[in-house]
Amino acid sequence: MTTTPNDLIVRAETRRLACGAKLSATRTKLGQFFTPAPIADLIVGLADIPDKGSIRNLDAGAGTGSLTAALVARAARQAPDLKLNLTTFEVDPDVNASLTATLGDCADVHPVTIDQRTDDFLVWAAEQLRTGSDPQFDLAILNPPYRKIRANGPERAVLDPVGVETTNLYTAFVLLALRLLAPGGQLIAITPRSFANGTYFYKFRQELLSRAGLRNLHVFDKRNTVFADSDVLQENVIFRAVVGHTPSTVRISTSQGNIDEPVSHEVPYGQVVSPSDPKSFIRITTDVAGLNLAERMGALPASLADLQLKVSTGRVVDFRTRENLRAEYEADTVPLLYPGHLSAGRISWPMRAGRKPNALVENADTAPLLLPSGAYVLVKRFSAKEEPRRVSAALLMSSDTPGALVAIENHLNVFHADNAGIDLEVAAGLVAFLNSTPVDQFVRLFSGHTQINAGDLRSLRYPSLEQLRQIGATAGQSVGVGKVDSVVQDVLPDLYP
Ligand SMILES: C[S@@+](CC[C@H](N)C(=O)[O-])C[C@H]1O[C@@H](n2cnc3c(N)ncnc32)[C@H](O)[C@@H]1O
Repeated sequence: MTTTPNDLIVRAETRRLACGAKLSATRTKLGQFFTPAPIADLIVGLADIPDKGSIRNLDAGAGTGSLTAALVARAARQAPDLKLNLTTFEVDPDVNASLTATLGDCADVHPVTIDQRTDDFLVWAAEQLRTGSDPQFDLAILNPPYRKIRANGPERAVLDPVGVETTNLYTAFVLLALRLLAPGGQLIAITPRSFANGTYFYKFRQELLSRAGLRNLHVFDKRNTVFADSDVLQENVIFRAVVGHTPSTVRISTSQGNIDEPVSHEVPYGQVVSPSDPKSFIRITTDVAGLNLAERMGALPASLADLQLKVSTGRVVDFRTRENLRAEYEADTVPLLYPGHLSAGRISWPMRAGRKPNALVENADTAPLLLPSGAYVLVKRFSAKEEPRRVSAALLMSSDTPGALVAIENHLNVFHADNAGIDLEVAAGLVAFLNSTPVDQFVRLFSGHTQINAGDLRSLRYPSLEQLRQIGATAGQSVGVGKVDSVVQDVLPDLYP
């Protein structure tokens, strides 16, 4: 064979760049971001490939063929006796022309069979599943297209009949590929990180984790380096999942940008996907200190349900009830609390100089939005990227506001006891706990975004009621950030390093 594995990669890279430079309108529509050769090498390097026999690989949304080329180059170097049956799916005719050339080079480098398909992968895969075809692949190595699937988008007619309820193209590609894998088959994909903890991706995580065990997670330390030449600004991960049983550990690796040698370590599976987490969040952390923190947080004794507490998003969406908003508290209104009313772990209401309303009219329309006044724990849902804290919690007491009712705005989460106030000491303890350094560090480590939603708070582990009471009794009303660590540490010494 005259073409070497190196030639294959160099030529594929030239085609990737040339083809990428010509893309315009189709880029967003088809999610065309092609994988640079060093990243393709990293992705393919995660695959477990045998020395001989044959494997069937799926490259769905193959682009110019960077991933397939990297697989073939690896096999040519490390497993010359392994036969590769390659299937590619690419819908863009211009891109397919480059792909054909790269697949031709593949055949010059290594024993392969090639099925280059130009049809829509979603349509084809759904049809295979609908007709109950046998599993077709041993390996799926994907950089799928990323784009939201609209509720009335044409993809729904393809995906709904096979029960793929996901809202992004990339998760649809991953789920369909996963279903087409034989037992023991491996799926390796580079995708946005959003699936790991987004509420929208709950069903995706459930299916992924029930069909397959996560074996590898690779995180890029710096944003914006993977697809730097395509202007992609998002956090990407590479994961490898193996159809069948759940392993006892996951290998987590990290690299800064494209070129560094990855650093990696094995982490117990339960630290990445906690069996007690109803939302099946995939917790991705890369540093050892972070992993130790995750272990300490995971060892806390209670779930929110054990504490008989709930957390919800504040019910008042102000623009939906504009006519009922009032700048000042007056007759027939109830106090309305916004994030701006939170101050140093407590409530400062009303805010006279503020731009936000301080009250909501009490009437039949607003009645379902109100809570009886009492002790509650409020947590801001949003923080700015540069803010030092992700979690900021405050204690609301019945004495903070007049009247028998209170309204909470939608940019706040509220902890309550079945829509009623919480025991005051427990509430104060909970605020202190949430404002402690370990909780903030933990949330920061495992969340790719700056929001904290009720779902995130529901998935945390908590101190016991007794411990919360003890913390609350000692802290009193001094439960703001920066004040609470010594009190929390006295009651929960194991939470601190
Ligand atoms: C993110 S790019 C990645 C390309 C390639 N896998 C790589 O890593 O360089 C996704 C590719 O999927 C193609 N694509 C988008 N929708 C598709 C579909 N429904 N079926 C097949 N290919 C599709 C796009 O044209 C694009 O080339």
